[in-house]
Amino acid sequence: MGQHAGTHFKRGGEDADETLGNRLVIHNLVQEDTRTSFIKDLRHGLTAQPKRLPPKYFYDELGSQLFEAICLLPEYYPTRAENEILTRHADEIADALDCTPVSLLELGSGSAVKTKRLIEALLRRQDDLLYIPVDISQSALEQSARVLLQSYPNLRVTAYASDYYTALVRVSETKDDRGCTLALFLGSNIGNFDAEEAQKFLRSLRSVLRAGDALLIGADLKKQPEVLEAAYDDVLGITAAFNLNLLARINREFDADFDLRAFKHVAVYNEPMGRIEMYIESTRAQAVHIRQLEIEARFEPGERIHTENSYKYTVAELSSLAISTGWTLGDTWLDGAERFSSNLFIAVAD
Ligand code: AVI
Repeated sequence: MGQHAGTHFKRGGEDADETLGNRLVIHNLVQEDTRTSFIKDLRHGLTAQPKRLPPKYFYDELGSQLFEAICLLPEYYPTRAENEILTRHADEIADALDCTPVSLLELGSGSAVKTKRLIEALLRRQDDLLYIPVDISQSALEQSARVLLQSYPNLRVTAYASDYYTALVRVSETKDDRGCTLALFLGSNIGNFDAEEAQKFLRSLRSVLRAGDALLIGADLKKQPEVLEAAYDDVLGITAAFNLNLLARINREFDADFDLRAFKHVAVYNEPMGRIEMYIESTRAQAVHIRQLEIEARFEPGERIHTENSYKYTVAELSSLAISTGWTLGDTWLDGAERFSSNLFIAVAD
């Protein structure tokens, strides 16, 4: 485990950061390291028909930076739209929970930039705030927690470096009975789940909260295919680089010989399925060797690796999703251009 200025972490353990006056605790609950699961998914995904790789492997250091660049692109509106909604409506969102103190639980917190709007709104209604971010990346958690703690002296952070499900079990075991919880699942992350995963995730989250607790969930809306396809295939080619970096990452980490010039980025809106599909397409017949894993993967011309789905919703679909997983849809806020939605799901009694 890494040693950082003023902080140290133990696997499966916890530690307080004295430099921040014991306001930061990070629990490391990561069970399987990324390399082990990546190897399994490579063996499985590159021998499957059709070939596929899960989107979670986009986010190595370069991939994370490329994603941050995507969020700045004119074509990729979701990040800006959600920021606009949170900037405009954070006080209304905070007021929707009729109790104090509210604790803030965020799944997939990343850099937590948008979260600031809600932290500030909550700190206008209560003296202090417990923020519980969950993210698979301990370094992202640590960095964002430090920035937040320096900005807000009345904030405490109990962070979980973990997958969502492991963290939710731990959160439910350690949660005290005071006040209520506002959970956040921002950034259209729900869109990267298929229907079954979305239901499983929302039911698990509901099961650790109490009736009346709320979840603010960001979801991109269905719209014209041209607008959606441009958001996932920008003219600068940043999304193409983000997608192809998956092959570059395999080359770097497993001594593979993917020739990136012989593959291209494809993003299409599958209207019947209501989702953007991203693929990496082989432009010729070729064999690729992943030497460290002794894998040879053969590609036909035009053969694709399916790398990501990004589901788009209507507000009516979000309402049905809420009802089928133990929630009810309260308010929905849209950005000015009505491209993106922030939805307050309220946990209903069992
Ligand atoms: C992280 N996730 C919500 C993004 C999305 O829009 O599905 C990932 C992404 N892929 C390409 N561009 C952005």
